[in-house]
Amino acid sequence: MDLFEYQARDLFENYGVPVLQGKIADTPEEAEAAAAAIGGTVVVKAQVKVGGRGKAGGVKVVHSPEEAKAAAEKILGLDIKGHVVKRVMIAQGAAIDQEFYFSVLLDRSNRTFLSLCSVEGGMEIEQLAVERPDALAKIPVSAVTGIDKAKALEIAKAGGFPDELLDSVADVFVKLYDVFKKEDATLVEVNPLVLTKDGKILALDGKVTLDDNAEFRHEREEMERDQLDPLEAKAKEMDLNYVKLDGQVGIIGNGAGLVMSTLDVVAYAGERHGNVKPANFLDIGGGASAEVMAAGLDVILNDPQVRSVFVNVFGGITACDAVANGIVGALNTLGERASKPLVVRLDGNNVEEGRKILADFNHPLVSLADTMDGGADKAAALANK
Ligand SMILES: Nc1ncnc2c1ncn2[C@@H]1O[C@H](COP(=O)(O)OP(=O)(O)OP(=O)(O)O)[C@@H](O)[C@H]1O
Ligand SMILES: [Mg+2]
Repeated sequence: MDLFEYQARDLFENYGVPVLQGKIADTPEEAEAAAAAIGGTVVVKAQVKVGGRGKAGGVKVVHSPEEAKAAAEKILGLDIKGHVVKRVMIAQGAAIDQEFYFSVLLDRSNRTFLSLCSVEGGMEIEQLAVERPDALAKIPVSAVTGIDKAKALEIAKAGGFPDELLDSVADVFVKLYDVFKKEDATLVEVNPLVLTKDGKILALDGKVTLDDNAEFRHEREEMERDQLDPLEAKAKEMDLNYVKLDGQVGIIGNGAGLVMSTLDVVAYAGERHGNVKPANFLDIGGGASAEVMAAGLDVILNDPQVRSVFVNVFGGITACDAVANGIVGALNTLGERASKPLVVRLDGNNVEEGRKILADFNHPLVSLADTMDGGADKAAALANK
């Protein structure tokens, strides 16, 4: 699970990492009130899970609650690399002297943790990594010994910090490693970590990825609720493997591999039909019962972006006739709520029986396709109508 910046900020605060005040706002009015409560100069920051918010106009420094309101009006609804801003954080403003970079992450290929550090942090870090990789120190961190003060000093030195700052940044690195370890994170990144004009070290932006495999060790319900898109939340409630994407063709399939390739085929077909794209990933798994099919269809049809749905199921242990009955049951359950055209491609075990059930059902919104490519093309065309 990737955290939003404000969630990372809260986590940092719990571990004693120096951060500034931050309040979330979902409307310009809330932003205004938050800015008034914090007082002085504040920064209005888009809460989207993508880097480069600053460069995309998603980070604005303002000096009054009225300006904060105006900035929030501009930022809320902004599309940053396909992520629409629904929430902003109002952060207390810092008088920045210098910007640094620090991260610790799981380095899977080398089976170790890795810390990246540079005294030259800020918004150009990606460029630095490409153009002058030597300026970005890469220090392996043992999972056994972690980052203690001595290791933190080694990292800070390698990152190019001047002697007078080593001690204070090393203390912060130790705390950030504490977050990484105790929260079972796979990434903790601070960019920028700053030195303020009055000599303080502060974490001004945080990116944290938590390891979902360790979820059972933590209380993350609230964080999760805040994370999820309303459709994803509903899908999670129904135990569906659903990921919302930015497109118009709803997808239902069984088996992650089949669903992934369905997304590819639909994206490819979409190029011929007004550039429509897959609207989601949804794997209904092996069972494909009427209830699961109905739950899946319900989630997808509730996505206002969706204009057609492509059901691509391969009958295995659950044969095609059972899947077809599932679709019939789902459409009967949904009634009026099933309001968008459905293209169904069935193949595999008992395919003839399955197709016959759907043909006999003769629902005005359902059409059958013989092949995956044909189905994708039909669904894309319908979404483009
Ligand atoms: N609280 C703050 N006070 C003053 N300046 C800030 C504050 N927060 C951010 N900034 C400035 O805005 C810049 C961009 O902010 P931030 O790093 O949070 O967003 P970003 O552009 O999305 O970064 P990233 O690409 O790492 O996600 C910072 O480098 C810093 O100069
Ligand atoms: Mg940043």
